[in-house]
Amino acid sequence: KKIVILISGRGSNMQAIVQASQSQQWPAQIAAVISNKPDAAGLAYAAAQGIPTSVVESKAFPNRESFDAALMQAIDGFQADLVVLAGFMRILTPQFVQHYENRIMNIHPSLLPSFIGLHTHQQALDAGVKFHGATVHFVTAELDHGPIIDQACVRIEQGDTEDTLAQKLLVKEHQIYPRAVRLFVEGKLVVEGNRVIVNGSDA
Ligand code: GRF
Repeated sequence: KKIVILISGRGSNMQAIVQASQSQQWPAQIAAVISNKPDAAGLAYAAAQGIPTSVVESKAFPNRESFDAALMQAIDGFQADLVVLAGFMRILTPQFVQHYENRIMNIHPSLLPSFIGLHTHQQALDAGVKFHGATVHFVTAELDHGPIIDQACVRIEQGDTEDTLAQKLLVKEHQIYPRAVRLFVEGKLVVEGNRVIVNGSDA
């Protein structure tokens, strides 16, 4: 299976996925890492790993539709079976999302369906919840909705801030995201309505 990973910045989740794919010898290949920002730090890591990289600069397009069309063309040029959004900070058009139905996933730094959108750590602190987390989900047209593949949580302690929560969560993200992608490439994820069933798992 061919995986294309989309990033906008640091790309630590992308790195975790690349490393897991190599060390666990997945039946998959990271076909490309594509960024909408030319200065995304993660591009250098991918290039150093010998992974093809490409930039489709969102700023260069007059509207969402034309950017998404160009991005789609770039992704399909790599014959992607799976599109992985890893810190990709763009809202995608319904046409784009439908083109990759059930083969595009995202990681969101909250326990969905709580706290969609941006500033999720602050949203959690403001709400006074005692647990916070991260969610890997298939992407649907509605932002931060879509069938949930996996979640991980951390307890919010006295004195936690946006930064400490982001740090604690990142560790968890790097565990659940590679695992979810692996289940996909092994053909174990089945979407039934709003639910994801993991085939052949004891979990
Ligand atoms: C992660 O916290 C992800 O959940 C959020 O943006 C961050 C991306 O980090 N959407 P990285 O680029 O994978 O290091």
